[in-house]
Amino acid sequence: MTRRETFQVSSGAAEIYESRFVPALFAQWAPLVVDQATVTEGQRILDVACGTGVVARAAADRVGPHGLVVGLDLNPGMLAVARRIRPDLDWCLGDASTLPFPDDTFDAALCQMALMFFPDRRRSLAEMHRVARRVTVCVPAALPDQPAYGLLVRVAARHAGPEAVALLDTYWSCGDRDELVALVGEAGATVERCTTHTGTARFPSPDALVDTEIDGSPLAERIGAETREAIRRDVISELARYVQADGTVAAPLVAHVVTGRRAHSPEARRTS
Ligand SMILES: C[S@@+](CC[C@H](N)C(=O)[O-])C[C@H]1O[C@@H](n2cnc3c(N)ncnc32)[C@H](O)[C@@H]1O
Repeated sequence: MTRRETFQVSSGAAEIYESRFVPALFAQWAPLVVDQATVTEGQRILDVACGTGVVARAAADRVGPHGLVVGLDLNPGMLAVARRIRPDLDWCLGDASTLPFPDDTFDAALCQMALMFFPDRRRSLAEMHRVARRVTVCVPAALPDQPAYGLLVRVAARHAGPEAVALLDTYWSCGDRDELVALVGEAGATVERCTTHTGTARFPSPDALVDTEIDGSPLAERIGAETREAIRRDVISELARYVQADGTVAAPLVAHVVTGRRAHSPEARRTS
């Protein structure tokens, strides 16, 4: 069986993730996720697989001083960066498949750009629905629906080894909309809403795109300088259509946001 990639990065890569990956790729989805989850003042919110905390920070702005935001992640390096930026929020080391909270601790659980890395997605979703009645999850759409990233993955796959290719496949592996909706149902929830959005991945240059994608991900530790240069060469020629007049890159990135509401109480589920 292929080992599923869990997106574990070193503490140095976590800093790069926050300074480069988050502004280029991830920050734009956080307001969409808290909007669709209808996060409001005073609520208790869990950000599952919070990384460096971009969604938790957006939720904290909404819930205000009378609410509670907890960010949970498997990776201590990510949590260290999250804690440095917002020491006032609660950061918790933990696994999405066994959440260390009692039933109904939260009004909502949010999970952005991470479900695809969980070894047991159904169980992790069920866990989120145990600790919160409503769950909102954001994942990248499948690779055939990603015009720019489809090219990027083909280039990386051409030059990097099989492990790197497995990592790149994982990113898009929850992105089939029908399968995503079915998965939420299998986790014991009713889908309230599933929306699809085209965002933009922005980079100062094609070089910055290559370096950010590699250095902010586990690829950084798995490829050498020669492979990196080969990827850079091909990306520059194959993604030329996304380079703007000022030399920056603006590439489409498509994502689904799905909100589920728990069908039965956690107690009823356990006894059924
Ligand atoms: C691409 S990052 C997304 C982080 C953040 N949600 C964001 O939008 O920037 C994926 C995160 O999932 C975390 N992760 C992977 N598997 C996990 C698990 N089983 N439980 C908790 N976190 C996990 C990784 O440590 C990483 O921080």
